[in-house]
Amino acid sequence: MTAADIPQHTADLANGEKLYNIAGCRSCHLPGADLKDVDPGLPAGGASLKTPVGTFYPPNLTPDAETGIGKMTDLEFVNIVQRGISPDGQNLIPALPYTSYAHMKVEDVLDIKAYLATLTPVTSPAREAGIPAAFLVRRGVGLWKWVGLDTTPWQPDPAQSESWNRGSYLVNGPGHCAECHTPRNFAMVLETSLAFQGGPHPEGDGKVPSLRGVIERGRYKDAADIASALQYGEIMGYDKVSSGGMGKVQQNISKLPEADIKAIGEYIASLK
Ligand code: HEC
Ligand code: HEC
Repeated sequence: MTAADIPQHTADLANGEKLYNIAGCRSCHLPGADLKDVDPGLPAGGASLKTPVGTFYPPNLTPDAETGIGKMTDLEFVNIVQRGISPDGQNLIPALPYTSYAHMKVEDVLDIKAYLATLTPVTSPAREAGIPAAFLVRRGVGLWKWVGLDTTPWQPDPAQSESWNRGSYLVNGPGHCAECHTPRNFAMVLETSLAFQGGPHPEGDGKVPSLRGVIERGRYKDAADIASALQYGEIMGYDKVSSGGMGKVQQNISKLPEADIKAIGEYIASLK
């Protein structure tokens, strides 16, 4: 994107916090094990994240001027989060789910940045990613993006309710649910024709279940039942699963207003 794509916008911090939570930024940008004195609630960066192409140490998102994003411009931030382009022009690996964030409203992304600026700054220098042949992998990502990174903004479906549309936006944009619930091809690109059908776990072992037909398959009674499971993590029982991945997502969802959680339940229930 260019400067012309960045709208004039007055930040809404409450909206920024909500979207930061559903976007799960902190789940990946956790403080590293060496940052013992740092509040684990801060996205200070440095904890390891395993991906099919190697191990990353997602960086510091606190507003520290030297090691965090304190000096980052809005344009740089939006290009990272929605296009996977770093300020020095490198292609970022889609382990940072910019493929989903690309569909977000730019204003929502700017609100996340404004919210991050209110957090306590932490000194946490960047750590080199352990990706073999990083240069080649980044070039491969560049080629794929050139062929077709889908950057169309999310569109409402006028035939559906307002709440369904809110759920659709949260799931397909900031919530990046497809990043785990849709299988990827060899280049780590989501197979959109198989959307939400489940697939291998991106962080390693096991499988991610399909989100299609969860009611028809008797997993849940109705939309409200799905929403309640997402809110409390109880029916699913995944709140105790630390390695499964959905535990962290469920904790993030539980921080949303109830209407948003209901909206997600309504949308998931409609996936046949
Ligand atoms: C599923 C894990 C994951 C989530 C969720 C995630 N990130 Fe990241 N992020 C990464 C990884 C991995 C990298 C490093 C990518 C690379 O080096 O190619 C990264 C890099 C970054 C960078 C630094 C890019 C640079 O070039 O300096 C910023 C800024 C960032 N993420 C912001 C965010 C924000 C804001 C959110 C939430 C809206 C977010 N991330 C959510 C994994 C994640
Ligand atoms: C980091 C990967 C990941 C992301 C992102 C993710 N999920 Fe999941 N999800 C899982 C895994 C793995 C499971 C199976 C339970 C487990 O092992 O934690 C699961 C299970 C579920 C289930 C239960 C399905 C069943 O058969 O009972 C629902 C519902 C669900 N996810 C909804 C969502 C929604 C909504 C989002 C987006 C807000 C989302 N997931 C994002 C990995 C993920």
